[in-house]
Amino acid sequence: MPLRLTSVSAELYRSIRRIQVPVERLTVLVGKNGVGKTNLYRSLELLAAAARGAITREIAEEGGFESVLWAGPRAKGPVRLKLGAEFGDYAYSIEIGLPAPIDEAALTATEPMVKSEELVHRTRGEALTLMKRQGPSAWLRDEDGRRQSYEEALIPSETALSGFRDQGRFTELDLVRRALLDWRFYHDFRTDKASPIRQPALAITTPTLASDGYDLAAALATVLEIRGEAPDIEAAIEDAFPGASLVTEFGKGTVSIGLKFPDLPRPLGVHELSDGTLHFLCLVAALSGYRLPAFIALNEPETSLHPDLTLPLARLIARAAERTQVWVVTHSEALAAALEIEAGVAPRVVVKQQGATWIEGLKLFGEFAEQE
Ligand SMILES: Nc1ncnc2c1ncn2[C@@H]1O[C@H](COP(=O)(O)OP(=O)(O)OP(=O)(O)O)[C@@H](O)[C@H]1O
Ligand SMILES: [Mg+2]
Repeated sequence: MPLRLTSVSAELYRSIRRIQVPVERLTVLVGKNGVGKTNLYRSLELLAAAARGAITREIAEEGGFESVLWAGPRAKGPVRLKLGAEFGDYAYSIEIGLPAPIDEAALTATEPMVKSEELVHRTRGEALTLMKRQGPSAWLRDEDGRRQSYEEALIPSETALSGFRDQGRFTELDLVRRALLDWRFYHDFRTDKASPIRQPALAITTPTLASDGYDLAAALATVLEIRGEAPDIEAAIEDAFPGASLVTEFGKGTVSIGLKFPDLPRPLGVHELSDGTLHFLCLVAALSGYRLPAFIALNEPETSLHPDLTLPLARLIARAAERTQVWVVTHSEALAAALEIEAGVAPRVVVKQQGATWIEGLKLFGEFAEQE
């Protein structure tokens, strides 16, 4: 049973000065352009990258530490970008910074490096640290509760979260890593004519759609062939394109899909579908796959969809949120309103306050006002 995410936090990441956001079964964030919705989504991606040990590389690829750092006023002293995820009683956090001018090993003075990490277990008001990393050294509590120290064991780009995998000795760290590794992120799907999504996919059983959607045909075919029935997929397609049905076709080691529309004698293959139709099929595969990841984050899923598809999309997301945790950021108020009707979850409004991303009704320490 994967851990259930209960809140995420970020500090000094782009437009986020400091925020802790409670995470529900379905979290819907709506807001105008530029308020920081994608930055919130991206901070979740960085947490998942920490579990793969790729967080500093991703920050470098994004333009480097200085570029992703909150550009507004900051306290004096060493600057740290902080991210955290809470899974019920377990809280993981990580801090990224630049090398100290002296005595810290890094390739360059601008290499983002992991400064510290922590995993804490809180019960009945008491906090027990299970893992603590400072620079290259870390200690972890083993299954007998004893601290195991690892001096000079980690390089700046490594995370303790990804690095310490000691079959069952550090069970809680394993659980948190596995939960984060399972997260899936869906932003843009390439729907241009040359997109690999429009090509046949390798016929490999695919329980979960890849973030880029390139295994779309395999993911849909997996539900149809392995499960033998796909009521969620059929319902979503009927909802969006009344009378249409999904068809699969196997080639030599490949699988293709198409849509059979009531008014056309032959099905249309993925190479013939419109951008919006293909985008919707990708969302169907992401949200009705054979196995849903423990957490799915969608960034502006309404992109390139006609308003007619808003309600079918909301129903698709609502059905997925019955099977797993879903996080949606959108600038479509229509989608947010439809989700409130379909899933009974009120959207949260993302705003900017003094240049910083904030959510209306959120209190400083990660609760919404009405939750009290
Ligand atoms: N280093 C930084 N420091 C402070 N603010 C930043 C930094 N980098 C980007 N921003 C701000 O973040 C905002 C962009 O955030 P983001 O892309 O998350 O917005 P969004 O809500 O997703 O918008 P859209 O609806 O247009 O996609 C911009 O207003 C930009 O000025
Ligand atoms: Mg955005």
